[in-house]
Amino acid sequence: MQLKDRLAVITGGASGQGLASARLFLTEGARVVIIDWNAEQGEKAAADLAPLGDIRFIAADLGQEPQVRAACDRILSECGPPDILFNNAGIGYSENGRFKMASIFDTPLEDWDAILRINLTGAFLMTKYLGQAMVGRKSGSIIFNASIAGVVGQRNIDAYTASKGGLVALTRALAASLGESGIRVNAIAPGSIDTPMIRPILTEASTAERLAAIPLRRIGTPEDIAGLALFLASDHAAYVTGQIIACDGGRVAI
Ligand SMILES: NC(=O)c1ccc[n+]([C@@H]2O[C@H](COP(=O)([O-])OP(=O)(O)OC[C@H]3O[C@@H](n4cnc5c(N)ncnc54)[C@H](O)[C@@H]3O)[C@@H](O)[C@H]2O)c1
Repeated sequence: MQLKDRLAVITGGASGQGLASARLFLTEGARVVIIDWNAEQGEKAAADLAPLGDIRFIAADLGQEPQVRAACDRILSECGPPDILFNNAGIGYSENGRFKMASIFDTPLEDWDAILRINLTGAFLMTKYLGQAMVGRKSGSIIFNASIAGVVGQRNIDAYTASKGGLVALTRALAASLGESGIRVNAIAPGSIDTPMIRPILTEASTAERLAAIPLRRIGTPEDIAGLALFLASDHAAYVTGQIIACDGGRVAI
């Protein structure tokens, strides 16, 4: 029970890494609020996880400031200030083919704006509206889900990479400014993780190519990320802040 009675807010908690983190945080005693723009999947996730503990779902599009503000106001009034904020939601490679993940020459400005707005501005807004209440309590853990794409160069996913690089910089900046308030701020940099986001591009050929570059020779699971998020959320990481921790089977180490 590493998170007993702590309140954890997880964005993008309806699927993949956010969902696995919600499950693990609940089993560790946390009260969990998941936020997602996919209302159907979010309601289902909350119903499925309800036997594990106190969970609620709030529908919001992180790219829409009024919706983020309303969701945060609701959390503060109904649940109180969070102890843990996991800014996990993101849009990337293949979500419904909605955005092209393309070279800079083939990236329309609208796609660039939309990806930055969700991945970077959404996390900024969540942290702005919930962080103030965390500062007031003089303790807390803020975790960003970045990507190894924000740490090393990757080809032809420029808008995504820029958004994740922004999260990496924001992590360090907020660790510097919120440390004296007792708030720890860290980022996870996942490698290839088997979730709906990248599943459509995990063909046999691309999987083989990825595996050849991963020392542990496997694609990561959502539970791999949840385990690291739990560590960063817990008191075991009490002296850890400002860190960008890769969870990638060793991919960027070689
Ligand atoms: N899967 C990977 O290989 C990989 C690698 C590196 C980083 N990441 C990052 O991990 C995070 C989690 O992704 P995942 O792999 O679990 O994918 P996923 O698609 O399974 O989950 C992402 C969740 O975010 C939600 N979401 C997206 N845009 C939103 C918005 N505007 N408002 C509210 N919710 C929104 C989606 O509905 C979904 O439930 C993302 O930030 C992603 O960029 C993933």
